[in-house]
Amino acid sequence: MEMASGFFLSFEGVDGSGKTTQMRLMEAWLRERGVEPVVTRQPGGTAVGERIRALLLDSRTGSLDARAELAMMFADRAQSLAEVIEPALAAGRVVLCDRFTDSTEAYQGGGRGLGAERVRAMHSLVCGERMPDLTVMLLPPLKVALRRARRRNEHAQSETGADEGRFEAEQDAFFERVHGAYRAIAEREPLRVVVMESAGDAQAVHGAVITKIEPRLRAAGVLR
Ligand code: TYD
Repeated sequence: MEMASGFFLSFEGVDGSGKTTQMRLMEAWLRERGVEPVVTRQPGGTAVGERIRALLLDSRTGSLDARAELAMMFADRAQSLAEVIEPALAAGRVVLCDRFTDSTEAYQGGGRGLGAERVRAMHSLVCGERMPDLTVMLLPPLKVALRRARRRNEHAQSETGADEGRFEAEQDAFFERVHGAYRAIAEREPLRVVVMESAGDAQAVHGAVITKIEPRLRAAGVLR
């Protein structure tokens, strides 16, 4: 009998990096190969998490202490692990997660200046050893990503009234720190993190991602 082997794949990058598009392409690619992934996002992905997300992302939330923000990110993550991620992995499923603790290290640790150490300490308290098996990190030139993210948020707000712009409203210096923190993670954990720096066409980036990760998925028994 064959053992079910769960696999945890996260997607990371600054706002507007094309992360969500790449996740969708990956999901479709897996389905074509007979793998039905569990797809989720952070913050969000559970009933409680979507409420935490609304608080975190709405510009009208106003002043939120950086440490409160950090704690809310981990409250969301704990709920997601308990309700979605751990059960899926235990059942041998592939989990595609839009952002995980690397986002907290980049945004709260780097962007808000709380420091990587504090974020990592909190991770081990709240999440234990659990980390993605593999992370696709999209790091196109910051200018390109931010232009996309800001345009998209304006559009979404005028179309639907949804306001998810609390982070996008930050200054460029904030995102430079976020970008730098992502780079540091990639350098520290080259085996887990696959970095894509291209700002090119989504299909081309997808092809490059597949080239890099397909052997890993085979080795892990996700694909046969
Ligand atoms: P997301 O919905 O992925 O935004 P986008 O699709 O624009 O990339 O993420 C929401 C925002 O939350 C994003 O600006 C990053 C921020 N965030 C943190 O600051 N810390 C975290 O731990 C997570 C998970 C997200």
